[in-house]
Amino acid sequence: MNIKKLIFSVALFVVVILFTSWSQSKNPRMNLLNEAILPKPVSVTASGSSFELKANTKIFVDGESVALLKAGHYLANLIKPATGFDIEVTSTSKKSNSNSIYLSISKLEPEFGNEGYKLKITGKNVSIIANSPEGIFRGIQTFRQILPKEIEATTKQKKSWFIASGEIQDYPQYEYRGAMLDVARHFFNAEDVKKYIDMLAAYKFNALHLHLSDDQGWRIEIKSWPNLTVHGGSTQVGGGKGGFYTQEKYKEIVEYAQERYITIIPEIDMPGHTNAALASYPELNSSGEAPELYTGIKVGFSSLDTNKDITYQFISDVIKELAEMTPGPYIHIGGDESHVTSLEDYIPFINKVQDIVLANGKKVIGWDEIAHADLKTNTIVQFWARIENAQKGVDKKAQIILSPANKTYLDMKYDSITKLGLKWAGYVDVDSAYVWNPSTFISGISKKDILGIESPLWTETVTNIEELEFMVFPRIIGHAEIGWTPDSLRDWNDFKVRLKKHSERLKIKGINYYTSDLIFKVAPETKN
Ligand code: ACM
Repeated sequence: MNIKKLIFSVALFVVVILFTSWSQSKNPRMNLLNEAILPKPVSVTASGSSFELKANTKIFVDGESVALLKAGHYLANLIKPATGFDIEVTSTSKKSNSNSIYLSISKLEPEFGNEGYKLKITGKNVSIIANSPEGIFRGIQTFRQILPKEIEATTKQKKSWFIASGEIQDYPQYEYRGAMLDVARHFFNAEDVKKYIDMLAAYKFNALHLHLSDDQGWRIEIKSWPNLTVHGGSTQVGGGKGGFYTQEKYKEIVEYAQERYITIIPEIDMPGHTNAALASYPELNSSGEAPELYTGIKVGFSSLDTNKDITYQFISDVIKELAEMTPGPYIHIGGDESHVTSLEDYIPFINKVQDIVLANGKKVIGWDEIAHADLKTNTIVQFWARIENAQKGVDKKAQIILSPANKTYLDMKYDSITKLGLKWAGYVDVDSAYVWNPSTFISGISKKDILGIESPLWTETVTNIEELEFMVFPRIIGHAEIGWTPDSLRDWNDFKVRLKKHSERLKIKGINYYTSDLIFKVAPETKN
């Protein structure tokens, strides 16, 4: 090579280097620590630059895993409406393509478990690494929250899409982080349930418990007992037309949830809360006569006859069909407020029903009253009302799901002027819902005894998705953080600042949230 060529090559090299660093440095300086991430991650390290998501950014998926490819497409679909970008998703074995988002399964430290992830953002690319596709999915939810808030818009926005650089390492504190929806008192169709599933997925929830039967309605098709839905599903609180899920619709919900790493837990409440079933089949009643359908909101007046053989035939048929269409590991048997069943009848009933569930290959969850029975291996007690029942459950070696009504019941009014909701467990404003610690909540019950927490929404007064959103948001975001974030990192004053900022996303998403004064009231200016 002659000297001229050499000088030219060196000059070209210098120009390329300068151009590359100039083009990277045109990305604005941003601080990842300023992002309002909910639930708060275990660790965030900022590196002061930013990555720009562009129309030609690519999503690369490490290897041929179908689940990972699905996660890649889920991310591409999440990004598309607001950006208008049709981002390509491809499998690769190459690690560091620039201008890309790279999703990869790789062995992380044990504390990351199934749901933990590492999210790295540099000026050049983004990577999400996890032990499993589920962890990648949780990481995508964090990535979503550090994209500009307009990413939540459903129409194309004119703007650039920079995100702050740095590294996030994250994993949950509790294995079970659930919500419950009562579709029995007011029916919610599959489309609404899917909307709720999407809202829950955004905050890393992993379970949705569907309360499928109660006095006011039976909501799941059981082919061997068709009148349950034909008659028992035909009304709801207030006398509306009710409704039910066909088995096909239910499977559609289950699959939709599965794709978002949310387990559906079906509940058939018994022996109480069974008026809809009793009204549908006279033979299930002690009197042999069917009662009228019920559209009020009283509790504790109905019971299956725990001494009739037909009752257990009925339960076996129902659980068999339910287990067959439920891939998740749990079936919830209710067991609450059986005020007209004597304890003498209640205990053998719950024992038999546990055996039926186990014989169908599922684990049992029941409300805290079931702790009176002989709890079988793996039966889980869901605490809602009586501390001594939860303690009894732990004494009998059960794990506990915590749903204290005065903290997690989303049907409790926020304050005295909330129009919707009930108040028997007290008012639950956003601070009360957030400021408690599962591992110290009940004396004698520590973290090892707790599977997780669940936020139930009972629907005596909640009739549609807008009302659901109002009762759920924003307090369920606090519950998400209790279930996910280490207690040592949780702080109300820090949470409320992040929540206020995050509420701009709720607004863009069109979620009808409660603007609690605790979060949104501007402090009055001090006068000199
Ligand atoms: C319940 O609130 N009856 C579980």
